[in-house]
Order: sequence, then C-alpha cells, then structure tokens
Amino acid sequence: MRYLDIQTLLSEEPLLTEVTVKGWVRSFRSNRFVALNDGSTIKNIQCVIDFEQFPTQEIERINIGSAVQLTGTLVESQGQGQKVEIQVSSFQVLGDADPEEVKLTILSPKRHSLEKLREQAHLRVRTNTFGAVMRLRSKLAFGVHKYFQENGFYYMHAPIITGSDAEGAGEMFRVTTFDLNNAPLTEDGGIDYKQDFFDKETNLTVSGQLEAETYAMGLGKVYTFGPTFRAENSNTSRHLAEFWMIEPEVAFCDLDGNMDLAEDFIKSVIQYALDNCDDDLEFLENRLIQEDKTKPQNERSEMTLRERLHFVVDNTFKRVTYTEAIDILKNSKPNKKKKFKFPIDEWGADLQSEHERFLVEKHFKCPVILFDYPANIKAFYMRLNEDEKTVRAMDVLFPGIGEIVGGSQREERYDVLLDKMKAMDIPQEELQWYLDLRKFGTAVHSGFGLGFERLVQFVTGMGNIRDVIPYPRTPGNAKF
Ligand code: 4AD
Ligand code: MG
Repeated sequence: MRYLDIQTLLSEEPLLTEVTVKGWVRSFRSNRFVALNDGSTIKNIQCVIDFEQFPTQEIERINIGSAVQLTGTLVESQGQGQKVEIQVSSFQVLGDADPEEVKLTILSPKRHSLEKLREQAHLRVRTNTFGAVMRLRSKLAFGVHKYFQENGFYYMHAPIITGSDAEGAGEMFRVTTFDLNNAPLTEDGGIDYKQDFFDKETNLTVSGQLEAETYAMGLGKVYTFGPTFRAENSNTSRHLAEFWMIEPEVAFCDLDGNMDLAEDFIKSVIQYALDNCDDDLEFLENRLIQEDKTKPQNERSEMTLRERLHFVVDNTFKRVTYTEAIDILKNSKPNKKKKFKFPIDEWGADLQSEHERFLVEKHFKCPVILFDYPANIKAFYMRLNEDEKTVRAMDVLFPGIGEIVGGSQREERYDVLLDKMKAMDIPQEELQWYLDLRKFGTAVHSGFGLGFERLVQFVTGMGNIRDVIPYPRTPGNAKF
C-alpha cells in the first residue's frame, strides 16, 4: 500500500485508489470529518469516517493534536473547500493527545497571538502560520545554495569557534572550558586563558568574513552560510543573538561588482520563493491582509505580500552615496519637524533604522543600496577611498526591514590596513594571518553578508524576527 505525503497526494490525485496518510488532526467535526495535516503542505486533507462502523473508544481517541494513520479510497469531494477527500476504511491512532491538556496549549482551535506562540515554541510549527514560515525558510535556504552553486561559487564552512573579532565591535560570546568559579589566574589576577582548552581566548564567530576572504583568495568565488552569534543587547524586531548569515566573497571584484552580485542574488532567491512556494505565500499574504484590517488606514500596506516580492524582483535597486543620503535626510520633513529620534545635522552621523526606513519607504520607495560611508563608522577592513574620508562600504536597505545586507570592497593594501587596525585598536597579533593575505598575491576583492532571517522576514511578511527562526535566541531568552 502506498503511503503518500499530503502534498504528493494532492498533486497527483490518484482518484479511486486506496491510499494511506499519516499526520496530525487539525479538526474533527460531527464525529465524521477529520482535517489532517502532515506538514508537507499548508493544505489539510479531509478524511471522512463513518463513525458507526468503528468502536466508540477508538473514535474518541481522534482529537485535535493526535497523530493518526488513515487508509481509504480517494474520491472527489461532495463538500465545499476541497476537491478530493478520503473515504476512510480503517484507521489507527498512533499518538494520543488529551483534549483537556490540548485546550491549554496553542494547539487549541482559536486565535493565539504570536507572543503566545513564542511561549510554546516547541508546538508552534503545528500552526498554519509557522508551518508556512518554516517551509519557506527551508526553500529560501535551498534557493541560496542554488544561486551560488549555479554561478560558480564554492560553499565554504567558516569556523564557529574563532580567536578573533571579525567586526571589531566586541560583541562576542566567550567559549571556555573553565569553571568560572575556579578559573586559573595569571600573576596580575586576570583569568589565565593560556591554560584554557585552546591555550588562548576564544569566542563564537560574529562573521565568517575574514576566513571567507582567505578562501576567496584561493578558490576565487566562495560563500558561507552558517550560524553567527552576537552578544549585542538589542531587543528589537530585527536582532537575534544567534542568526544565520550568508557571506559571499569574490576575488578580483570591486564595489560595483559587489553591488551587482547582491542585487542579482537577492532577486534570484526571492524569485525562487515566488516560483516554488505559492500556497504558503498565499496563506501568509491573507494573514497580512487580516492583520492590516486591525490597523489604522495610514499604516496599512499599499501592496500585498506577493506584490511586494514582485516589486523587488522587477525593479532596479536605487544606488545612492552616503553623502547624497545625508543631504536628503537633512532636508527631509521628519528631520525639520524633529520627528527623528536621532536628528541628522551633519555629515558623519551614523544612520539609524528610522533614517534607513525613511529613505526606502518614503523617499525612494524601492530597495536602496547606500555606499561610500564615512570610514570611522564602519569596520576596519573596508577599502579606503581616495578622499581618505570614506570607505567602499555598501548596505542594502529594504522596505519594512531596513538593513538586509552589509558589505564592502576589502582593504587589499598591507600598509593601509595595518595603519587602520592600529588606529582602531585592533590587535595585530590576533590577525597577522589576515594581514598576510595582503603580502602573498594580494588583489582587489569584495563581499557582503546577508542576514538570512531578515530575508525570511521580508519574504514571509512576519514583523518580528523571532517568528522566522525555530528557536530564537535574544537577551534573556534561550528556554527551548
Ligand atoms: O552588517 P554586518 O554586521 O556585516 C558583517 O558581518 C560583514 N562581516 C559581512 C560581510 O561583509 N561579509 O552583518 C551583515 C548582515 C546585516 O546586514 C543584517 O542583515 C544581518 O547580517 N545581521 C543580523 N541579523 C539578525 N540579528 C542580528 N543581530 C544581526 N546583525 C547583523
Ligand atoms: Mg551592517
């Protein structure tokens, strides 16, 4: 007997054959109609049980949340809402779910807030919203690999435990095997990391970029795709302490090439989602339409979810220098009316997400690539421009998200990089291997990092980054 997942069953629709399905009960109406979902698709299959033919004790075990196996004939459905259904000839409850306990969980059939779902993160993938988000997340990850593999990139695995701070921002989680109450001390009373597992201080990586650079300078075009960790105390809807980053790095590529790559890559991955995830996108789109109805008119979005995705794919990203952006912001209405929390009064100011979102959502009304930022608000490794004030940095800004990509052309000149590191207090001993790259066949090279969860947020329309990763890590939260 064929055991098919519901996705396959619904796409093949082998009418009048006997089929077996396994899944979790979403609803059971009139002791007769089971809506079964197995996670393969957002769609449930309706299974019709003639309850008079089965012992009452067995029927009573069919409850919301229970795992069941059902066998029967696939027929055209008489009812509305589905084309086909299964006329059940036999069934077996594989795993019970006590209705009294289910009532207390998010599995119970009523609207639960996203906050409530987060409190039961181990169950939330059984809801339509999280099923859809997590299937999309998986497809997007595949779309990422597909793009790079089809464009001559090699997948490089950057280490998770590192001895350096790739961003120089000091936001690292320490890795140690010491008993913190009883760690060996140096003569001056500090912790003696020379006696630790790696004979030195180590931390979880904040970015695989520096290692990716070394591999690009041997394999030509590489990308990383892995978890990265930041101990930044940001409780926002865009920040996680553990997030997945995609970091391509390309030898002999300058900032223009880097911008082209970022734009082409993002469009291609979004197109992949549009081509392969229509059922889930449709569901999430309707979810947003419902959510919008609860908002005041001026906060509702002008486009539906899929319209927004098409809009990104079909339009050229606007490329603007930091200097131009500052001019626009300085003269903008919210700045003059003191509506920005951080007013813009001079060149050199770091841009906050309120500014990025103004540029994207109000001014240009399309994705924007800002480039040539002031050197002192960006990381040490970025290529210094001839003006000696700005660096070849770029950020891709998205509507609703703000920064989705950060990248740059890298400083390939040994002396310039060394001076910069000294000026920014980056310890040379720790990064001599990185400097060495500039000694042995240095070349122009560039890359960027895309925060995978921010991409998933954009594509699914989810407002909070905690709702696009299975088990979010944020300040004060690592329960599951
Ligand atoms: O701009 P960032 O810090 O750049 C880098 O890490 C570079 N080393 C990348 C490179 O050039 N190879 O981070 C890159 C992207 C951001 O644009 C954002 O999308 C995401 O990573 N990101 C975060 N996502 C979720 N939570 C956080 N705390 C994030 N911090 C950065
Ligand atoms: Mg950045």
